[in-house]
Amino acid sequence: MIAIGADHAGVRLKAEIAEYLRSRGIAVEDVGTFDETSTDYPDYAEKVGRLVVDGVADRGILICGTGIGVSISANKIAGIRAALCSETFSARMSREHNDANVLCLGARVVGGGVALDIVGSWLEAAFAGGRHQRRVDKIGALERGALAR
Ligand code: RB5
Repeated sequence: MIAIGADHAGVRLKAEIAEYLRSRGIAVEDVGTFDETSTDYPDYAEKVGRLVVDGVADRGILICGTGIGVSISANKIAGIRAALCSETFSARMSREHNDANVLCLGARVVGGGVALDIVGSWLEAAFAGGRHQRRVDKIGALERGALAR
């Protein structure tokens, strides 16, 4: 299951992406927002991030105007590795090298067509492990304040 959330700036793109995911047979939990009334992006980053770290969702997708606010917010949650992507190469590498568990998109940055390509690339890519596992482990150590200075 993929958890998806957006603020008012991302609500339309969220609906497009949710429809795309469902058309591919992927279960979606949409945490909102559901209209264009002004709202606060950290609230949706928290909802999606918690579903991912609690293991309820396999991965998450977050959208705001630039994607920056949701990515900064989601990355404050221990266990979340959120990647803000505007093209498919970064989306693929965020899975292969960084084991990103949340994809962030800027609805004012990318159009619907590019966004769906990014989501498709991100879903199809797998974590490569090996030397990248050591680096991802060090991200976890940074979160715990356990990395040697
Ligand atoms: C909302 O106007 C906008 O600030 C928000 O969607 C996002 O772009 C913040 O990073």
